[in-house]
Amino acid sequence: MTEKRKYRVGVLGSGKGSNFVALADAAAADPAAPYEIVLVLSDVAEAGILAQARSRGLAAQYLSPGAYRTKLDPPAEAAYVAALQQARVDLVALAGFMRILKGDFLCAYPARVINIHPSLLPAFPGLEAWRQALEHGVKATGCTVHFVDPGVDTGPIIGQKVVPVLDEDTPGTLHERIQVAEHELYPAVVRALAEDRIAVQGRRATWRRG
Ligand code: GRF
Repeated sequence: MTEKRKYRVGVLGSGKGSNFVALADAAAADPAAPYEIVLVLSDVAEAGILAQARSRGLAAQYLSPGAYRTKLDPPAEAAYVAALQQARVDLVALAGFMRILKGDFLCAYPARVINIHPSLLPAFPGLEAWRQALEHGVKATGCTVHFVDPGVDTGPIIGQKVVPVLDEDTPGTLHERIQVAEHELYPAVVRALAEDRIAVQGRRATWRRG
């Protein structure tokens, strides 16, 4: 019997890469996992995510973001898309990638770019969402995996996980607890996408049971 082709995932990150580690290790731990990570790209040459990928024997590459500060400039965008296409990536998973992706990138991967965000969107989009949640005084926050559209943290929501805010929380302890939830949610979502169990109609993503 021929082995089923695995869904090929490319991960983009700028930071330490704990979500990448969760995705990679969940796939590596299960020979029947429906996805594999085939490429990691970063806009930060010394990012921990690249070292984490290399230590797992995965292809990892720094690609210059170009001249802009908050997004990829057009030549950089073309270079990212070319690298992902060359690796025959089916899905692009952003994991702490600190640049906004725009039209041409998203057109190359329609409805196939996802992101993880450390709040229950649409609450607290943008930077340091855990700090925003604490300062606002909410009693529960969490994390969200969503499809990426041209806005900031605005695309259709695929999955969320709730995390309580404790009276004694600092921004650091709350972020840590949210990250534990992220590391469960992100592999579950990628697995479901790889198994074609997510349907999207308008803004609503629904799950078929696996
Ligand atoms: C995560 O908290 C994620 O929600 C946000 O950036 C952070 C990345 O962390 N988008 P890591 O590099 O995966 O540890």
